[in-house]
Amino acid sequence: MTRAADRGAPSGPLAAYRAELLRWNRQINLLSRRDAPAAADQLIAQCADAFDLWWGGAGAELVAGGKVRWFDLGSGGGLPAFVWRVLLAGRGVEVEATLVEPRTKRAWFLERLARLPGAPGFRVVAARWGEGAYPEAGADNSPILFTLKALRLSEAAILGGLEVAVPAAARAPGGDIGIVRFQPAEGVTAAGLSAELEVPAAGEAFACGGLGFRSFGGRYLAPAGNAGAGAGAGAGAAGLFVTRHQILGADAQG
Ligand SMILES: C[S@@+](CC[C@H](N)C(=O)[O-])C[C@H]1O[C@@H](n2cnc3c(N)ncnc32)[C@H](O)[C@@H]1O
Repeated sequence: MTRAADRGAPSGPLAAYRAELLRWNRQINLLSRRDAPAAADQLIAQCADAFDLWWGGAGAELVAGGKVRWFDLGSGGGLPAFVWRVLLAGRGVEVEATLVEPRTKRAWFLERLARLPGAPGFRVVAARWGEGAYPEAGADNSPILFTLKALRLSEAAILGGLEVAVPAAARAPGGDIGIVRFQPAEGVTAAGLSAELEVPAAGEAFACGGLGFRSFGGRYLAPAGNAGAGAGAGAGAAGLFVTRHQILGADAQG
């Protein structure tokens, strides 16, 4: 695994993204203004490291079929969305990506990113999750991925929004759902996060937004070098809380 310190300067679409962050930072408040270039480098590297952590710990398995429908909730200035979108393309995954961001200026900035040279495709929905307009989709049971960085939504709030974003035929039984939340590098546990975010226990069947699910529970992935007492993880490294569910079908009581 390449660690942040070894990554060097971003290149290709990530370099164009970094330049765009710095260009619009004053008007839109995307980064700390104190040392914006260093902040951009640190955040891009943090997201790239977190992608490797997710890929090895859960991601490769979730997208083993080669396709994923992905919603990044609260995308802000595009972290982790833009970085993960580039890295997913690099893994050869077919991605239908949606960045969900209610603040108008930030949604405008995200639309600009989609037009950068070499940018991989994504669409932007300028609304809170659970609201807004999404395109029609046909029957599909490819996996659905959610990512959240610096936005706290409960499991029910995330799964409940599927009703609006993914029409019934495309929420087919058997489909897998993976939810990835950025977390501190230490000081959190899967049990604590599961309680806080109301994640059903592994094996439990539950209903949400008119759909039934089976939970596979949640796991905390610690950043490299941080599996034990917290020593060695890079400055600004992120841990990830990953949960997984399977769609059982329309919920009779939903
Ligand atoms: C702290 S920012 C994080 C932005 C980005 N993910 C990052 O880490 O740099 C949280 C973002 O979530 C957005 N947001 C707040 N409530 C939301 C909701 N219910 N659904 C989607 N986005 C939301 C805010 O507008 C804001 O841009």
